[in-house]
Amino acid sequence: MGESTNIVWHDSEVTKKDRQQKNGHKGAVIWFTGLSGSGKSTISVALDKALFDKGIRAYRLDGDNIRHGLNKNLGFSEEDRTENIRRIGEVSKLLIDAGLFALTAFISPYRADRNQVRELLEADEFIEVYVKASVETCEARDPKGLYKKARNGEIKNFTGIDAPYEEPSNAEIILDTDALSVEECVDQLINHLENAGYFT
Ligand code: PPS
Repeated sequence: MGESTNIVWHDSEVTKKDRQQKNGHKGAVIWFTGLSGSGKSTISVALDKALFDKGIRAYRLDGDNIRHGLNKNLGFSEEDRTENIRRIGEVSKLLIDAGLFALTAFISPYRADRNQVRELLEADEFIEVYVKASVETCEARDPKGLYKKARNGEIKNFTGIDAPYEEPSNAEIILDTDALSVEECVDQLINHLENAGYFT
C-alpha cells in the first residue's frame, strides 16, 4: 500500500464549533480500554443510551463490530492492533469534527498507541477510561469462552494470557468493575462530563 500524493485539505463551511453550538455540547472521544471481558462494551452501550436519553449526540465504535467491517483485514499481532487503534483514532477525530461524542470500546493494549490518539486530538477531546478488572475476574466471567480457548492454545496472542496489556498511567477515569455496577460506572462518567463542562 502506497501513500497518497498530490492531495490538498478542503475545509467545510460549517466548522466543528458551529456544530457543537448547534448541538449544545462539546464533542470528545470517551476511550474505554481494558482486558477482554472487563466490561468496556457493556458500559459503553449503557453510556450511549444514557447520553441519547439526555439528548446528547454520541456514536459507539466497538472492537468486535469494527473488525467485521472497516478493520476486517486486521488480526491480533502487535502491528495489526496498532493499525486498528490508529484507524479508530482517525474515525474518532471525524466523529468529534461532526460534533459528536465517540465512545470507543477497544482493548487498545499498548500505551503508545493510546497516547498517539491522545496526540491526534485536542487536549480536552481525549478522555481515557480504564475499565479495570483483573485477568482472574475476566477469566472467571469469560462471556465468549475466549479465555478458555486461549488457555487451551486454540487462540494465540490473547491479551492477558500470551499477549500484553499495558495499564494506563494517565487515565482521566478508572472504573473498577470488580466493585462497581454498570449504573454506578455510567453515573461516574456522566458526572465527570458535567463537572468538566462538556454539557450541563
Ligand atoms: S485490540 O487489541 O484493541 O486491537 O482489540 P479489539 O479490536 O478491541 O478486539 C478485541 C475483541 O476481539 C476478540 N478477540 C481477541 N481479543 C484479544 N486477543 C485476541 N487474540 C483476540 N481474538 C479475538 C475478543 O472478542 C475481543 O472483544 P472484547 O470485547 O474485548 O472481549
